Amino acid sequence: MTVHFIGAGPGAPDLLTLRGRDLIAACPVCLYAGSLVPEEILQHCAPDARVINTASMDLDAIIAECQRAHDAGQDVARLHSGDLSVWSAMGEQMRRLRAAGIPVSVTPGVPAFAAAAAALGSELTLPGLAQSVVLTRTPGRASSMPEGESLTNFAATGATLAIHLSIGNLDRVITDLTPAYGADCPVAVVYRASWPDERIIRATLATLKEAMEDGISRTALILVGPALAGEGFSESCLYSAHYDRRYRPQSADSPWSSWSHGDD
Ligand SMILES: C[S@@+](CC[C@H](N)C(=O)[O-])C[C@H]1O[C@@H](n2cnc3c(N)ncnc32)[C@H](O)[C@@H]1O
Repeated sequence: MTVHFIGAGPGAPDLLTLRGRDLIAACPVCLYAGSLVPEEILQHCAPDARVINTASMDLDAIIAECQRAHDAGQDVARLHSGDLSVWSAMGEQMRRLRAAGIPVSVTPGVPAFAAAAAALGSELTLPGLAQSVVLTRTPGRASSMPEGESLTNFAATGATLAIHLSIGNLDRVITDLTPAYGADCPVAVVYRASWPDERIIRATLATLKEAMEDGISRTALILVGPALAGEGFSESCLYSAHYDRRYRPQSADSPWSSWSHGDD
């Protein structure tokens, strides 16, 4: 028996991995985080599966469900939105399950920041503008930030910021980022990326507050940084006609000329 943690993706039901779909279909028990996991994904569950929305349950109750399934020898599909590596609460569940001797597995999912970038048609790491993406958040009612992980510190890097769980802290985001990025820095807010009611707001740090639309109070990502402009960047070496590289040696003297695919 195993508890399979599965990233359910950002919203669109077809943004689920094939592995995730097959595991859901094979598990007699499915626990899903109902606030963000789309109902359509539950259609992959077996008709007689025990399907439980954990939105109103506490950690003890969730682990008790897993223990019950374990005692009955039944595998569990544990669904969380997006990917499990960020803000999924997988860590605390896994710690308890391991302590109880219950085996676990992890199947990744499409994270919200990737779905938001896709909705924008943006590459977040454009040569010469940004080569790092910071996945972060601002403090919330239930979560403080470790010292050092402040927006002002991240802003000092000039990287592209993907700010989660913070649409209610917009004033603070703008105030903290403007000194480092400048008022003209491009910003995008993507609300419910990949859902049918997805909305995109493009602005600058100076105009964002005014550009915001009603009804966007949760499930939105704030993306900030010069790469959001989608212009003013250099071309990468990767596809340069003159760049000497493994897959396209430029001369017989190239160190790559004698390389064969079997060497890698
Ligand atoms: C609890 S976190 C979950 C993150 C998730 N594990 C992931 O991989 O993206 C929830 C936050 O992720 C962002 N988010 C999740 N789904 C989203 C979506 N479809 N569109 C925009 N933002 C989303 C929002 O910032 C939301 O407040």
